[in-house]
Amino acid sequence: MLNCWVIYNGSLTSDKFKDQAQLLKEAAERAGVQAKLKKNFEVLIDLDKVIEQRPHFVVFLDKDILLAQFLKNAGIAVFNDPDVIETCDNKAKQYLQLAASGVPMPETIIAPKVYPAFTIRDSGYYERVLERLGLPMIIKEGHGSFGMKVYLIETEQQFYDKTDELRGVDYVFQKFIATSRGRDIRVNIVGGEIVAAMYRYSETDFRANITNGGVASEVELTVAQQALAIRAAEAVSAEFAGVDLLFGENEEPLVCEVNAAAHIRNIYNVTGVNVADAMMAYILRKLG
Ligand SMILES: Nc1ncnc2c1ncn2[C@@H]1O[C@H](COP(=O)(O)OP(=O)(O)O)[C@@H](O)[C@H]1O
Ligand SMILES: [Mg+2]
Repeated sequence: MLNCWVIYNGSLTSDKFKDQAQLLKEAAERAGVQAKLKKNFEVLIDLDKVIEQRPHFVVFLDKDILLAQFLKNAGIAVFNDPDVIETCDNKAKQYLQLAASGVPMPETIIAPKVYPAFTIRDSGYYERVLERLGLPMIIKEGHGSFGMKVYLIETEQQFYDKTDELRGVDYVFQKFIATSRGRDIRVNIVGGEIVAAMYRYSETDFRANITNGGVASEVELTVAQQALAIRAAEAVSAEFAGVDLLFGENEEPLVCEVNAAAHIRNIYNVTGVNVADAMMAYILRKLG
């Protein structure tokens, strides 16, 4: 009998991380795979020892890239691949890769690396950003989820306050897509195929994230949205992906981001599709 670990981050106390892992564990069991839930720190990253009771594969729902790489180095199949998790976990890195594939997305400028004790306030970089993207604009930290590290910058004062505050942090500047204010689409992709999608809308915030007050409903994707979501997942080589799409001019779809460990509870509640079953079926097909 095949067995797997479902790894999630044990230091995040919100129930939703364990719940997501539980959905995967149940899907594994339905598919006849023995599954164990593991918090990331329940696996000792001991570089001199072999892994005890190693699983056939790991569904990696965490961003502990070093642990993911450790498991991969031990010859265990890890989903998503650790390199993909690493790319998607850093929005700046992810946008570099999406841009290299020519994927339509909001105009984006990456912030240069600046150590906290230094300021580039007088270098002209920020003026060029302001000139290129205008206000309002979006500032987005490299690492962040649920909309928590995404900021709408409306004035120069806010712009300079935020750039000051973010010294030492990876982040990007991005054109604010006003036609998409408070609304986006989440598309879950497994192995290059669309499994489920939902429309998210917020009355109260420019961000459509459900955790941030957005409400979701079922949606039928246009052909352009379908093609772009699949293309975005492919551009970052994500076998499992939660792609966020924005609505540009004339509803033209733009990629907002690709999540490597997209949460699947909300989309299950909204659409009745359990993405975990598709993920498990994909893994079993791939491992033959
Ligand atoms: N460039 C943008 N223009 C307009 N809205 C945006 C833009 N980028 C993000 N948003 C909104 O903010 C939300 C969160 O941004 P996202 O990049 O998906 O970060 P997170 O990882 O926190 O979900 C998106 O779902 C979308 O509603
Ligand atoms: Mg998002």
